Parts: sequence; C-alpha cells; structure tokens
Amino acid sequence: MSDELATLETCDILVLNGPNLNLLGTREPSVYGIETLASIEARMVSKAQASQVKLVCCQTNFEGELVSLIQQMRTAGAKFLIINAAAYTHTSIAIRDAISAVDVPFVEVHLSNVYKRERFRHHSYLSDKADAVVCGLGAMGYDVALDYILGQMKGSL
Ligand code: DQA
Repeated sequence: MSDELATLETCDILVLNGPNLNLLGTREPSVYGIETLASIEARMVSKAQASQVKLVCCQTNFEGELVSLIQQMRTAGAKFLIINAAAYTHTSIAIRDAISAVDVPFVEVHLSNVYKRERFRHHSYLSDKADAVVCGLGAMGYDVALDYILGQMKGSL
C-alpha cells in the first residue's frame, strides 16, 4: 500500500467522490442506482470537454486524501468543486475546513435523498457553505451540478 498522497493535475473543475462511491453500480443499487462511477465520470469529462473546460475526477476512501486534494485546488488552478463526500459529509469538520481554506464555489451532491433516510444523514458539515446541494436525483445529480457550474463559468467570461 502506498502512503503517498495523490497529486492533483491542473484543471478547471474538480469532481471529488468519497468513501464507498468506487462501488457504485453494485453497492445497494436500490439506493444508489446501477451506473458505475467510471461511467458517471466519463460523461462529465466529455461534457466539460465539449465546453473547452478541463474537469478532473478523483475518488478516495480516505478523509485525509480528500482534504489534501481540496488543498491542492489552488495550485492546480481549479475554480469549482463538485463533491460527494459520502459518509464524511456527516462527520468531517476537516473537509469543511479545507473547502473554506481554498474558498472555491462548490456543489454538494448526493445520489440518494438523504432526508428520506436515517437521521444521522440529515446533517451535513458542508451544506451551509455550498452554492447548491443536489440530492435524490441519482447519478443525474452530478450532471445537474456540472450544468450549473458550466453556466456559472460562461457567465463569468
Ligand atoms: C451519499 C449519502 C451518504 O449518507 C452516504 O454515506 C454515502 C452516499 C449519497 O450519495 O447518497 O456514501 O453521499
């Protein structure tokens, strides 16, 4: 096992997925759907590319890795973040602090409607900092988040 933290490549938009989302497609399909993360990511990369925007996707099961990738957004030139922090959404002050530190606009995504689920999923350490929160739309939530951000980027040109 490597203890090296991933280096974030130069990009405009970073899409971060947290723990267990690497299992999309087979993980509780009645809750999270049948689309794999690789398929969601490929669609997002090509949609961004069509707008001449470079989008990079990263998934990790480790909280510190998520923090490190967020910290690297400044040097990588990334201006927007789409994040599904998965279970860390409900626990991680460290991820909240990292996003505040880099001060980038971001969309929080959840495939499931967390408000229809257990109470511990109702609290997010990120939502009050987010530009937008998308939940319950399944994989389409990522597409909606990207459309919003591409619209924001066009508006700021
Ligand atoms: C999730 C919801 C979280 O509560 C859960 O821990 C996840 C996925 C979602 O996308 O619906 O892992 O973020």
